[in-house]
This record gives sequence, structure tokens and C-alpha cells, in this order.
Amino acid sequence: MGLVLGIDVSTTATKAVLVDLAGEVRGMGVAEYAFQVPRPLWSEQDPALWWDAARSAIPAALAAAGAAGADIEAVGLTGQMHGAVLLDGTGTILRPAILWNDQRTGVECDEIRTAVGQERLIAISGNDALAGFTAPKLLWVRRHEPQVWARLAHVLLPKDYLRYRLTGDYAVDKADGSGTILFDLAARTWSPELLAALDLDPAWFPPTFEGPQITGTLSAEAAQATGLVRGTPVVAGGGDQAANGVGVGAVSEGTVALSLGTSGVIFAATSRPLHEPRGRVHAFCHAAPGRWHLMSVMLSAAGSLRWFRDALAPGEEFGALAGSAGEVAAAVDGLFFLPYLSGERSPHPDPLARGAFVGLSLQHDRRHLARAVLEGVAFGLRDGLDLMIEAGMPRPREIRASGGGLASETWRRILADVLEAELVTTSTTEGASFGAAILAAVGVGWFGDVSAAAASLVRTSPVAAPGVDRSAYAGAYAAYRELYPALAPVFHRG
Ligand code: XUL
Repeated sequence: MGLVLGIDVSTTATKAVLVDLAGEVRGMGVAEYAFQVPRPLWSEQDPALWWDAARSAIPAALAAAGAAGADIEAVGLTGQMHGAVLLDGTGTILRPAILWNDQRTGVECDEIRTAVGQERLIAISGNDALAGFTAPKLLWVRRHEPQVWARLAHVLLPKDYLRYRLTGDYAVDKADGSGTILFDLAARTWSPELLAALDLDPAWFPPTFEGPQITGTLSAEAAQATGLVRGTPVVAGGGDQAANGVGVGAVSEGTVALSLGTSGVIFAATSRPLHEPRGRVHAFCHAAPGRWHLMSVMLSAAGSLRWFRDALAPGEEFGALAGSAGEVAAAVDGLFFLPYLSGERSPHPDPLARGAFVGLSLQHDRRHLARAVLEGVAFGLRDGLDLMIEAGMPRPREIRASGGGLASETWRRILADVLEAELVTTSTTEGASFGAAILAAVGVGWFGDVSAAAASLVRTSPVAAPGVDRSAYAGAYAAYRELYPALAPVFHRG
């Protein structure tokens, strides 16, 4: 049985997925863990958990597929992006990893903008300094933990710690590497200028590889621990967003994916290193060689509907609540919802931004409020999409959509109308881990390249097309765009 293995080191679990040549998932294993919040705004995880979890998820996937280690032709890795994993010269973990959702580094973001120059930083890395990214975390450790800093020899990203345990090699893929904001986006590797400006030693940063490139092979010790076979090739893989892009077939220029979970992500593949001039959407390398991607991240997407349910309709089914929104007209008489319940990332990188209902009147009931929530999330996603189009990406006619929020027909229609594109779903549902498996399959020659693999394995089916409400939303969206700038002074007053 010829299989490839995709492993996703996520924030809450490590998932191992076995995929065959037809793209069928033949077995899956999952091992969960928690992350720590030692102080408000902090988020940390012990890298040893990822290795422990892989040692149970991989054998579980093999067992579920009825497969042996020898059936696995290659391994692809993916995982939570931006986490800072710090090791000493012997590969020993120096402190818990500081994760992507850690917000402690506001001061260090300013320090980076000052040292490099904000415009220069965006021109080189494609991105502004945001607290979630890796570079400011390194500066925080330098400032606050000199005893750790003195021993630092290797900086890795979460999935690359698992790679180190599997193969003994230090390596990173281009997609995850660019999420450190220490990359020259166009050159697809570490920027000597940025490292020098921030006084970071280039020797700490591992060699960089394209997603399907083989970075090493499984060690005897790792084979023993996982049930895999010594010498099995491990490919670079990609950060979870880029690998998910591969997994849903968003690989060629202009293909766009929407993921509508707690957070909402719009991901667009590009064949040039585009960036938004003020860094309001992220610009990273894609896991497909020679491709890049733009990405906007909304922090509370389906999370906004969950908040609404918990606060105003406790016990109500999501389907019934979203369905009730379908009983009232679009753009309900000047009623708007701003979805910034836990601050925002794109297009307003503002931890102090807050949610709001604006334009309430006596005629509004809970159904209007629910509709405003669904519309507000769609408008916020449109903000991100429009910035990508302004940055040079073609306007998409079709968007590959996934995530729990898509279960609502009302929400699907609103999204199609507001984003002015047809929504389609894909045949593949395992997202990033499936994408990592595809990269492994390309790495060992099952397919000529990532585009060919995605074209062969990912099928789409239409779920919503823009309809009559599209023109009503054009005017409402223009009004929505005026609300954040008008309310920001109130949010910032605290
Ligand atoms: C991407 C990001 C998150 C993490 C979570 O920029 O921060 O998607 O990768 O897994």
C-alpha cells in the first residue's frame, strides 16, 4: 500500500493523516494538548508535548489504516505558524515556545519598526511587525531573559521542532520561514539586512526549503518511537495556512480560499511577491515552489456568532439562529455589527478594537441583530479581500470555502453577495494535514508539481452564488467602512 503521511502540529493537537494516491484519507490519529497562559496576553507551549503527541498520533493513524511503517513513502509537516522555539547548541529546549496568539510584544514591534524603518520592513518582508509574528518574540526574550538568550543556538518554528526530533536536522520551509518576518519575501529566504538591523545571528536560523523538497530522512531512534521506517524521507511542508491552501487547491495565481471558523481567513495564491503597501494584509511565501500568498485574518468570525448565541440566545442551535436571520431583509435598515470582539488583525491591526452594534431602532428584533452579525463578519472579510485586490491580485470569481460557519445557507448567501463571488466547497476536508501529505507526495514524485497534485486530488462543488442582494450590500458596505475609523477613538480611550 503506497501512502504519504501529513502531520499537523496545531495549537490544540497533533494530527497525523495517511493519504493514498487517489487522495483518499486512509487513516488518522490525533493527540491533544493544552497551551498555557502564564500571564494575561501570554500564550506558551512546551515543545516536548508535540513530540509526545506525534509518538501517539502516528501509530494511531497507522493502526486506523491497517498500514505498516513500510507503507509510508514520505512524511510532510505542517503546523501553527509564528511560534518561537529556542534551543541551545545540543538541541535542548531553552524555554516554552511563545505561540502565534501571544500578544506580549507591543514594545518590541515598535523597536523593530524603529530599527528597520516601517516602510523598509514592509518592502523587504511584505509585512508590518505584529505581536503574533516571531521576530518581536526573539527581541522580547533578549530583553527579558538574558540567561536564555546567552545560550541560544537554534531558532525553529513549531513543526520544525518535530522535524528535528524525526530526522535530527534543522530546517524550515519557505512559507513558515516568511511568517517570522525575518525573510526577504522576494528572495524566499532570510534577509541579511533585517537580521543585521535587529542584531540577530544568522547562524541561529536553519536552511530554508521549498514545500515539497526533502529536508532529511527518519532517524533510527524516531523510527523506533513512531512505528515508521528509518530512512523515510521527510519533506519541508509548510505553515498551516499555506499547507491548508495546498489542501484545498488554492495554488495557482488568483485562487482564493475562505476559512470560516472561530477566526476567518481569506487566503489568495499569487505568482509574484505582492504586498499591501501598509502591511494591512499578510504577505508570505506559499508552500508551492515559486508561489506566494496574501492573507487576511479576522479574529472573531464564526466566533462572533458564538458570542451572539451565548450572550443573547443561550441554548439556541446555531442553524436556527442563522436561519432566523434569513427571515429579514438584507442590510437591515442601517443596522451594522462590527466583529472586533477580541481586537482585530486584518485590516485593522488593533488589539484595542471592539465589537459594536450601530444603528439600532425600535423596529429591530433578535433576527435583525443576528443578520447584522452575519453581515458584519462578511463585510470584515470583504475589507481583507479588497486590500488584496488593491495590492494587485485579480478579483476572484470563485472562492473555496470551508469551516463550520458554512453550514448556514443564509450565511453562505450573504458571503457570496458581499464578496461578489461564487462560493464552492472542496472534496478535501482535512485542510493543513492533507496539504502536508500532498507536499510529501510531490516530494517523492507521485505528481510533477503541487499544482498538478492539487488539480488531480481536489474537486469543488458550488454552494452559493451572488444574487439579488448584491447591490443592496454595495451601499451598506461603503457605510460599514466608515465605522471603524469613527469609533477607533472611543475604543482607544479604554
Ligand atoms: C497564521 C496564524 C494562525 C496560526 C494558527 O498567520 O497566526 O493561523 O498559524 O495555527
